[in-house]
Amino acid sequence: MNLRLGDTAPNFKATTTIGEIDFYEFLGDSWGVLFSHPGDYTPVCTTELGRTAQLSDEFKKRNVKAIAISVDGVEDHHGWVKDINETQNTQVDFPLIADPNREVSDLYDMIHPNASNNMTVRSVFIIDPNKKIRLTLTYPASTGRNFIEILRVIDSLQLTDSHSIATPAEWNRGDRVVVANSIKTEDAIVKFPKGVEEVRPYLRYTPDPTND
Ligand code: BEZ
Repeated sequence: MNLRLGDTAPNFKATTTIGEIDFYEFLGDSWGVLFSHPGDYTPVCTTELGRTAQLSDEFKKRNVKAIAISVDGVEDHHGWVKDINETQNTQVDFPLIADPNREVSDLYDMIHPNASNNMTVRSVFIIDPNKKIRLTLTYPASTGRNFIEILRVIDSLQLTDSHSIATPAEWNRGDRVVVANSIKTEDAIVKFPKGVEEVRPYLRYTPDPTND
């Protein structure tokens, strides 16, 4: 299935390290990060799941539930989680989906046969509380992902959903933002009382409206 931004994330039932789940019930009203990894007991994946666990409080602050998936079985997942906890000095507190029959992997197009026939690539789906897909990302097996970047995108999505703004290159929480093109500068000046800097008619900066 070719899933694109704005599509509804398909629901599924699966076996995980916390038991059988219905994906939508698991997500509830939270945002979700569904991310695949090529395989258990592999070095890059070990650091990736460890990093996600280390950032658990950051995900919670943003009302985000993480959930990992690979084509390995649940017994492998349980054994590997012990290793992740030991080697990455953390406690994995999110579920790992066991998908040996590739049902979820196929549903989310996580197996790219020209890269590998028998492993999921490093896919990420950010899913909002309305179950819409808001980010897709695909990394090769040899490159570990940057989970700070995933948090940064969630910050941007959560901010821009509630204000008529967008976030510029390499923006981080608290940095200035850009005024949406749909707003005229004269209206922006009223809407953003902290000030609007017009560099070009199409490039207007304003301080982060949520900053104190
Ligand atoms: C890894 O996680 O280290 C890895 C997994 C599959 C292929 C290459 C690297």
